Amino acid sequence: MYDINQALEHFKKILEGQMERIANTDTTKTDFTTKKQVVIGVIDGDGIGPIITEHAYNVLKVLLADEIEAGSIILKQINGLTIENRIACNQPIPTDVLAEIKTCDVLLKGPTTTPHGGTMESANVAMRRELDLYANCRPVCIPEQNIDWMFYRENTEGEYVLGSKGLELPGMAVDFKVTTDMGTSRIVRAAFEYAKNNGKTHLSVVTKANIMKKTDGKFTAIAHEIAKDYPGIEVEDYYIDIMTANLLKDPLRQKFQVIVLPNLYGDIITDEAAQLQGGVGTAGSANIGDKYAMFEAIHGSAPRMIERGQGHYANPASMIKASAMLLRHICRTKAAERLEKAMDACADLTVGVGGITGAEYAEAVMKNL
Ligand code: IPM
Ligand code: MG
Repeated sequence: MYDINQALEHFKKILEGQMERIANTDTTKTDFTTKKQVVIGVIDGDGIGPIITEHAYNVLKVLLADEIEAGSIILKQINGLTIENRIACNQPIPTDVLAEIKTCDVLLKGPTTTPHGGTMESANVAMRRELDLYANCRPVCIPEQNIDWMFYRENTEGEYVLGSKGLELPGMAVDFKVTTDMGTSRIVRAAFEYAKNNGKTHLSVVTKANIMKKTDGKFTAIAHEIAKDYPGIEVEDYYIDIMTANLLKDPLRQKFQVIVLPNLYGDIITDEAAQLQGGVGTAGSANIGDKYAMFEAIHGSAPRMIERGQGHYANPASMIKASAMLLRHICRTKAAERLEKAMDACADLTVGVGGITGAEYAEAVMKNL
């Protein structure tokens, strides 16, 4: 618990830290079209993580067999990112595990458990920060309803960057939200580039700039500035509350294509969007930075499924979809298409209690490769 002067000191350190982060941001890009060897790190995670990650790992092994044999792709298992080890080391990503992670180019990561309260940061948040994975790309596609959305969630700033650095004073608690020019420009540009390269003509900028005037105000202003470079793309602003409703509203929702938004709003609304698609278990997600990228499910480690002994019913579709996104990112487009087609062929299978197991689903996908 701080008094006012201690709080001011804390705040000063926070601001200095953020200035340093902006100044030290490295924008060197990895070029996968020319890279001779790509190292894919595979991280199990907690709860249902090891179960669904293994299925995705097996799929990748089959798809990339020739390249693994030739040595142009290395699949590398990375251990130690478990809740037990993180608690034992008292670090969101233990130092030796982070060093291993940084020897990889891209990662396939199972869900990790985030401790509630306390001061231990989520492994996800730490990873996104350590590897500067600023673009969280979350596709949601429901062809029969004419829905094809791509969310570009800012992934390194907003309420998350200082989420474990809030402060408590007598009778009050304060958290911080940070939006920088650097952080906003790069996510907005990434969203517009995606739109341009994929023939999209509509981009929504979603904030709560009527209330979060400085941070979200900046986000919106920068988005409109960058929009001038993309004349073929229609840009509309929505507030997050009405956008949450609009995702349920036909025919309006069918016109949304690319949606760019700050971190916390993106976290919340992508769960809603994934639920419309068939549940969070069906949604994969890419966390992209200039140097590294990490691919994962959008859901958590589902400890209750494990407690109930139902881990084998966890749906690996999210991790397999994330694997397809990984393949696209490293420019293995043919392998990605093979996987996406195989998944499409399995679209009618229902994984879960009363349906088929995760292993049965993974087998069906493999058969359709
Ligand atoms: C997500 C998750 C994470 C987040 C948690 C696990 C920290 O909900 O990836 O959406 O809030 O970003
Ligand atoms: Mg989330």
